Amino acid sequence: MRVLIVGSGGREHALAWAIASSPLLVKLFVAPGNPGTATLAENVPIGALDVAALVAFARAQKIDLVVPGPEAPLVAGLADAMAVAGIRCCGPSAAAAQLEGSKAFAKEICDAAGIPTAAWERFDDAAAALDFVARRGAPIVVKADGLAAGKGVVVAQTEADANAAIHAMMRAHEMGDAGASVVIEACLEGDEVSLFALCDGTDAVLIGAAQDHKRLGDGDTGPNTGGMGAVSPPAGFDAAAQAQAMDMFVRPALAELARREMMFRGILFAGLMLTESGPKLIEYNVRFGDPEAQTLLPRLRTDLLTSLLAACDGELKHISIEQAPLAAVSVVLAARGYPVAYEKGSVIGGLEAAAAVPHAAVFHAGTDIKNGLVVANGGRVLTVCGTGPDLTAARTAAYRAVEAVTWEDKMFRTDIGLRALARTQLS
Ligand code: AMP
Ligand code: GLY
Repeated sequence: MRVLIVGSGGREHALAWAIASSPLLVKLFVAPGNPGTATLAENVPIGALDVAALVAFARAQKIDLVVPGPEAPLVAGLADAMAVAGIRCCGPSAAAAQLEGSKAFAKEICDAAGIPTAAWERFDDAAAALDFVARRGAPIVVKADGLAAGKGVVVAQTEADANAAIHAMMRAHEMGDAGASVVIEACLEGDEVSLFALCDGTDAVLIGAAQDHKRLGDGDTGPNTGGMGAVSPPAGFDAAAQAQAMDMFVRPALAELARREMMFRGILFAGLMLTESGPKLIEYNVRFGDPEAQTLLPRLRTDLLTSLLAACDGELKHISIEQAPLAAVSVVLAARGYPVAYEKGSVIGGLEAAAAVPHAAVFHAGTDIKNGLVVANGGRVLTVCGTGPDLTAARTAAYRAVEAVTWEDKMFRTDIGLRALARTQLS
C-alpha cells in the first residue's frame, strides 16, 4: 500500500507512526508533514489545502489511500476530488463534512435524527440574534456557523458577553464569512468527553474515547487552546457508556446523512457533554482530534491501515478495533506566549532522551529543522504520550518524557489526567 497523509501537526505524526508499523505499508508520504513525520515517511512540500496539487501527486505516485488529518481540506472537497481521480480517501465528502463545517447543519442532522443536543436557533440577522439573547438571558452559547479555527464558540456568562460575540461575528465580521450566520444555543453543564468512531457510510466502529484539556493553565484556567493534553479512557465514561454513545450519536447521524445521500466515510468525532439528564452532543468533527489522536493511537492493537482501508471499502461490518487495556496521558508542550503571540526559533534538545523513556512517545507538531537542530516553529510544538496499566503510570511516563525535553520556551500543564485520577479514586 502507498499511503499519503495530509497535514502537519502532532495528530498527523501520530497517524504516520501508527500507519508506519502496518505490514501492509509499502511507502508513506506526508504532505506537508513536519520533522517528526520525516523520520517515518517522505515529506512532500504540498500544503494541506492545495487539493489540486494533492490529487496530482496522488495520481503520479499511484497512492492507494489518502488519510486526511485536518478538517479544512475535507470541507474544501479533498475526498470528492480524490474520488473523481479514483483514489481512496478516508474522509467524508465536502457535503458530509458540513457536519463540522456548519454548526447549523450539524444541529439540523441532530434534530432530524433525534440526537440529544442543546436547544438551538440559527440567525442570519444580528438584530434578531440580539433580541433572542435578550429574551433568553445568560448563560448562553453563541457559535459562528462556519469554520473559525477553534475560535468560533463563545460560552457567554452574561448577556453583555453574548451581545459582544454577536457584534464581533455578525457586524464586525471578525470571523469573515464563518460568522455571517450564528447558532445560539442553551448552555450545557457537565464533563466533556470525545468519542471517536471509524465510519464506512453505513457502519461505524468505536476507536476509543478521550478527554481533552482545552484551557491553557493548570486547574482548567486561562484561555481556550486547541488542546493542552488529553487522557484516555476518560473517567465516568466507561466501555458500556461509549457503546451506548455510538448508538445515540454516531449511527443515527450516519443514517440521517445516508438518507440525504451523503455517505460519511472516515473518522467521526462526537464531542459530548455528560449532563445530569444524560449525554448531549456539543459538536461533531469530521476527523481525529489533536491531541486525542496522539492519545488513542498508541493504545491501538488493531492495525490502523487495515481499518482505514476497510472504512473506505465499506467493509467495517467485518472488523472491530481493539484498544490495549492501558491508560494513556498526552501532554502538549507549547511555546511561551501560546495561544496569543508565541516565541519561535528556540532550540529544542533532549528529544532522544524523551523518546527513550519507557512507554513514552514524542510527536512533533510546530517544529522545524535549522542548521541541523530541531527548533520551535509554532504554538503547540510537541505532544508527549505516556501509556501504562493505570493513569498514574501513564502520567509518570508522560511527565518523565516532558522533563527530558530541554527547551527554554517550554510551557505545559502539570495536571493532565489528575482530574480523571481523582474521579477514578472516588468511584
Ligand atoms: P468548539 O470550539 O466548537 O470545540 O467548542 C469549544 C467549547 O465550547 C466546547 O468544547 C465546550 O467546552 C464549549 N461549548 C460548546 N457548546 C456548548 C454548550 N452548548 N454548552 C456549554 N459549553 C459549550
Ligand atoms: N482537541 C480538540 C480538537 O482536535 O478539536
